[in-house]
Amino acid sequence: MSLKSRLRNSVPARWRRSFRALRADLQLMRELLIDWRIFRRWSGLHEQDAQPVIEARILKTYHRLEKGLALAQPRPGFGPDAVALLLHDLDTYLDLHGPDHVTRAAINTLQAYLQFNARHDLPMAALRSRCDALAARQDGAAPHAEGGVLALQRAQVQALAAGGFEQVAASRYSVRQFAPGTVSQQALEAAVRCAMKAPSVCNRQSGVVYAVRDRGLQQRLLAHQNGNRGFGDQADLVLVVGARLTSFLTVGERYQAWIDGGLFAMSLLHGLHAQGLGSCCLNWSVMRGQDRALKREAGLADDIEIMMLVAVGHLPEQFTVAQSPRRPLAEVLHTLG
Ligand SMILES: Cc1cc2nc3c(=O)[nH]c(=O)nc-3n(C[C@H](O)[C@H](O)[C@H](O)COP(=O)(O)O)c2cc1C
Repeated sequence: MSLKSRLRNSVPARWRRSFRALRADLQLMRELLIDWRIFRRWSGLHEQDAQPVIEARILKTYHRLEKGLALAQPRPGFGPDAVALLLHDLDTYLDLHGPDHVTRAAINTLQAYLQFNARHDLPMAALRSRCDALAARQDGAAPHAEGGVLALQRAQVQALAAGGFEQVAASRYSVRQFAPGTVSQQALEAAVRCAMKAPSVCNRQSGVVYAVRDRGLQQRLLAHQNGNRGFGDQADLVLVVGARLTSFLTVGERYQAWIDGGLFAMSLLHGLHAQGLGSCCLNWSVMRGQDRALKREAGLADDIEIMMLVAVGHLPEQFTVAQSPRRPLAEVLHTLG
């Protein structure tokens, strides 16, 4: 027996376990500190004026307007703070960077917002002239006529959802208007089976779905979430999508729950769409206190990390969705060699 093995065997097993636990804790702390440094260095947490950060803020803000316009009954004049922030960021961005597909979609959305308000006798002359001035600065950017809302018909969406995968993916939108009617258990199970087919690290299958049908509990859960105003209460079904942390074993896997849980959630959305249902993810990037409160309300175990909530319901015969335009392919697909 080597000296190393003899030394190891001379230490009681209990101490060896404690030592391993301490070493893992120290590793975890070091990794979290590194994550903290990377995040604060590269994210928009502290850096407010870099071009990609302003771009992200413009995307986020104009999408707030798109989402508002995609409700069954948008409130005339909604979101004045979003409009003010968007105008300010668009001016700065156009000064720094010039026009591109992001500014075009944002300006198109502002124009859709103006049209909606004009239909409700809110002409908003000052905003119109700011918008015209921004549109004039847009000249020369790549044509990209997206941004605002899109009118759809249930029959058209369901026909596409029943087609090949490219059609299924292209015809899924976040839906924020629902027709009355119960989502059948059969349809829900079929969608969850799609989610279960998502790949996961070493096939650990950490994904879980909690279906909430009780109206009272739905409302109590949705009250913890910020992004469902104006449509959450129309959903027939609220899903809590989570991943079990107990499936992950090493410090290196500390974010695997969100990777596997994200893939699981995406497959669930496609599954719901393939069933001809409408759905909208509801963001759950929250502080731990808010997370604890939701878990307590829902009665979820501590080892569950919540990925998101999802509002689900039947599609109205005709409805609008936020266009949520995508970046040009060249910004996403890069060939390295
Ligand atoms: C994790 C996540 C959280 C989201 N949270 C919300 C939300 O709280 N409220 C909302 O109306 N939309 C929410 N969305 C929907 C996005 O706005 C939408 O997916 C995006 O604009 C792309 O549009 P599409 O889903 O129609 O393709 C969320 C999407 C994701 C992936």
